[in-house]
Amino acid sequence: MSAIRFDDVWKEYGDHIVLERITMEVEPRAFIALVGPSGCGKTTLLRMLLGEEQPTRGQILVDGKPLPGEPDADRGVVFQRYSVFPHLTVLQNVMLGRELRDAKFTGRLFGAARRAAADEAMKLLAEVGLAGQESKYPSALSGGMQQRLALAQAIMRGPKILLLDEPFGALDPGIRADIHLLMKRLWNETHLTVVMVTHDLSEAFGLATRVIALERQRNRPEERERYGATVSRDLEIFPRRSAELRTSVQPAPTGTTRSGKEHQPGRPGALVLKEQP
Ligand SMILES: Nc1ncnc2c1ncn2[C@@H]1O[C@H](COP(=O)(O)OP(=O)(O)O)[C@@H](O)[C@H]1O
Ligand SMILES: [Mg+2]
Repeated sequence: MSAIRFDDVWKEYGDHIVLERITMEVEPRAFIALVGPSGCGKTTLLRMLLGEEQPTRGQILVDGKPLPGEPDADRGVVFQRYSVFPHLTVLQNVMLGRELRDAKFTGRLFGAARRAAADEAMKLLAEVGLAGQESKYPSALSGGMQQRLALAQAIMRGPKILLLDEPFGALDPGIRADIHLLMKRLWNETHLTVVMVTHDLSEAFGLATRVIALERQRNRPEERERYGATVSRDLEIFPRRSAELRTSVQPAPTGTTRSGKEHQPGRPGALVLKEQP
């Protein structure tokens, strides 16, 4: 559960401005869907959040503090493909999530710590529907199963922020629907702040608490390199899907029950459009 703040962030590669004037606030436990045309800098933005790339100008704050300059266990990531290690079994892949966090230098846990991690890994595998697959290698799993494994591995690190870069883009629609349910459940049960890049708008509106679009606002071909993409749309989705909904003393918004844990997809007419200046 972490708040993220972008303070006039720019990212340039040489003369090429990729992102400009990114200023936004992400509340703790938000589920952000980041959308925008291919090449507009979505992955670049995620990599800055991960600490793999630094802003050229401006800064990114997490819980009020400047982002550490390199990836750490507070931020987990799942890419579209190849997030898991092919030479490790399913169980070893999930265990690795914990080992990377707790045994940074040796990459291995021993004794009681190892047994506790293994128990937890087995539980997590059951939760993502991979019970019974523990000793298989990723190549023996379907694409959907591999992505569920990648999610389990990322969550095993106990991140506060989960970064997803088109994680379900390569999956068949039926499998994607299953994994969406899983994603909602994980988000409901944990206190994760999620930032997910997707180009599937129904996925964005079905899962997120807020949909943010990046776009180049000055798009003349001869100027392409000189101007970056920035936030062009910022849509909050109601009813608000937040932890507060469950404990709030205010009446629940119509159409929701206060006890209803499952967050509800945005319904028609339930959007608020915040146009950026
Ligand atoms: N390491 C890099 N060096 C130079 N240019 C890069 C680098 N990473 C990304 N870019 C450029 O930044 C732009 C945005 O890329 P990317 O963030 O991958 O877009 P998206 O994920 O929205 O499709 C592209 O024009 C890409 O070529
Ligand atoms: Mg990308």
